[in-house]
Amino acid sequence: MPLCDKKKQQEIQRALHLFSLAPTTPKTLQQAKKHTYRFWNTQPVPKLDDTITTQGPIAEGEVSVREEPYSLPQGFSWDTLDLSSPPVLKELCGLLNENYTEDDDNTIRLDFSLEYLQWALQPPNWLPQWHCGVRVDTNKKLVGFIAAVPADVRIYETEKRVVQVKLLCVHKKLRFKRMTPVLIRELTRRVNQQGLYQALYTAGTVLPTPISSCRLWHRPLNPRKLMEVNYPGLRQNITLQRALKLNRLPEVTKIQGLRPMTKEDAPGIQSLLQKNLCKFQLSPLLSLQEVEHWLLPRENVVDTYVVANDDGALTDVVSFYSVSSRVLNHPVHSGLRAAHLLYVASAATEMTDLMEDTLVLAKAKGFDIFCALDVMDNEGFLEKLKFSIGDRMVHYYLYNWMCPNMSPDKVGLVLPN
Ligand SMILES: CC(C)(COP(=O)(O)OP(=O)(O)OC[C@H]1O[C@@H](n2cnc3c(N)ncnc32)[C@H](O)[C@@H]1OP(=O)(O)O)[C@@H](O)C(=O)NCCC(=O)NCCS
Repeated sequence: MPLCDKKKQQEIQRALHLFSLAPTTPKTLQQAKKHTYRFWNTQPVPKLDDTITTQGPIAEGEVSVREEPYSLPQGFSWDTLDLSSPPVLKELCGLLNENYTEDDDNTIRLDFSLEYLQWALQPPNWLPQWHCGVRVDTNKKLVGFIAAVPADVRIYETEKRVVQVKLLCVHKKLRFKRMTPVLIRELTRRVNQQGLYQALYTAGTVLPTPISSCRLWHRPLNPRKLMEVNYPGLRQNITLQRALKLNRLPEVTKIQGLRPMTKEDAPGIQSLLQKNLCKFQLSPLLSLQEVEHWLLPRENVVDTYVVANDDGALTDVVSFYSVSSRVLNHPVHSGLRAAHLLYVASAATEMTDLMEDTLVLAKAKGFDIFCALDVMDNEGFLEKLKFSIGDRMVHYYLYNWMCPNMSPDKVGLVLPN
């Protein structure tokens, strides 16, 4: 193609991106039904129209796993990221923070910290080869990433070791070039090499085929700031005075014996969670080390509180993780902190009371908003505690496993990014 035509074409492409006319992944089931899934139709996942009544793998255990990595477009190479190296971890942070956008108009951007990435990507039994990066050959710039971490889960009655897929990201300049299918294929190959054939992942977009589609609810803790930064999905047509009144919270917590988790609480929490989670159709099977990893408080990453009775036995637990964002081009505010509910299990305290105290604690810790999915028993407290329904869906998916789909209140698992 002559150089000037090529330039013109690039300009058109840029304009298309700007006006969002570029091919986008479906956000709703209706859009999904009209979309041709060139990649996903080749994968062992149920079709969107399938009604599934049986359970089991879609493709039976591969006999031979491809030896050589999948080919990337010319000029790009695979690089397994060594996250124990601070410069590499920083590079990953840079890629995600520049390219992992949160809202549509680009004014609020996720801001992952190094500590958060270590927590999300290095749980017990993590493997370095599942931190899969793509670099540009000429300047070694990191432009793509996908990760998997191991997890044991229960899907209906089946207990299985799977991987959770996380933090898929392609640099903005390389979007719509079919890099994602290559990343997914290569990660699948590396996971298959370890004898695992199933994966669990969530996405905001509709792919073939969600096992459950959940809603993200949010509850302002600092309504003034949220209004000032025009936080997406906030209740419209409400004055600041009314928002402040509506979202007022007690100054202090009410529950006796509520305190931050310590390492010694891990066995008690493990048994509380297992008792509570086994009633759902999809739930994690957490080892003691995993309870420690995912729940033990880490500054600006995860907070967990427990309630102990007079005998010192744990009766309740609640945990939330921290999602920070940068606010772009705002004269006053530069950052925003959201707390996301991870697990809550209550054997003695009313769930709504436990969650109200959790909101008080999150507010005292400087969080601006509290988010929770309508999974597990969460519906029981969402409206009572003035959460409002957001427009974001979180779809849950299983790779190479079919099972009947489930309503959000049967999902007993939350996957932080
Ligand atoms: C998600 C992202 C990697 C997709 O990249 P892209 O350049 O739009 O898509 P590509 O051209 O590389 O690939 C398109 C294929 O990937 C699929 N795809 C897009 N987003 C996907 C996702 N989140 N998970 C799995 N597959 C996805 C598309 O459906 C399409 O396959 P199809 O032909 O079967 O429909 C990119 O938009 C991104 O980095 N976004 C910011 C981070 C993010 O949102 N990550 C996902 C979190 S769940």
